[in-house]
Amino acid sequence: MHNKRKSKINNNPIGIFDSGFGGLTIMSAMNKALPLESLIYFGDTAHVPYGTKSKNIVIKFSREIASFLIKKKVKLIIIACNTASAFALSALKKTLKIPVVGVIEPGSKEAVLVSKNKRIGVIGTEGTVKSKSYPKEINKILKADVYQQACPLFVPLVEEGFIDSEITDSVIKKYMKPLLSKKIDTLILGCTHYPLLKKALEKNISSSITLIDSTKATALEVKNILDQKSLLADSKGKKFLRFYVSDNPVKFQTIGSRFFYKKIFGVKKIELE
Ligand code: DGL
Repeated sequence: MHNKRKSKINNNPIGIFDSGFGGLTIMSAMNKALPLESLIYFGDTAHVPYGTKSKNIVIKFSREIASFLIKKKVKLIIIACNTASAFALSALKKTLKIPVVGVIEPGSKEAVLVSKNKRIGVIGTEGTVKSKSYPKEINKILKADVYQQACPLFVPLVEEGFIDSEITDSVIKKYMKPLLSKKIDTLILGCTHYPLLKKALEKNISSSITLIDSTKATALEVKNILDQKSLLADSKGKKFLRFYVSDNPVKFQTIGSRFFYKKIFGVKKIELE
């Protein structure tokens, strides 16, 4: 018999990346759901937005960021950006030896559980909508009618702080009109920035529509994977939160705090190879 038992604990950090600040909503959910885990965030602020870019370039950026995170010895990577999840998840899964989690599968699973009439709306960037990743993921689970709408103005509105404003209300009404006519009962917020528009969306659409934001569902999915693979951290690990960006660390610190729902300190700028 072997006496040497494999350790069930791993105190290495988890890597999280996004095109910019948005993925901090996922980092915040992770910090709450898994308070012992160290987290390293990378915001690709030199290349934001990803939502209007082509698949190949988003895959290239995602590979460069993943290499950086691997050098930091992360045990798992979360692609916190919907567009990068849509374009680069399978490419990263194929080449990396550690688990990689995107945000589209957890959000889709939750929407399927919640929807009663199986008429599901999805809002996201142009790239996410074009990729049809949400309809594909949902229909892997069950046959549902999925209606998509790209909302390119939402990201700049959120970043400019237009969260509770008439301008945002009228943009929401315009984007939501085609979806509402489809009698959806569930709406997936398929972009990192949209959880900040939850209240404004609720104000402008019927209260019978359930909004799904994949932040909590993603954090729970990560918890399950770490648990299954015996990779959870324990209280002996010195928990830390670190933030890296490819440009504008000061702006990231200021705007990022809104997405992290807490003050952010010590953001470092690094050049990716
Ligand atoms: N993070 C992106 C997403 O969730 C939104 C911002 C961007 O276009 O880069 O799709």
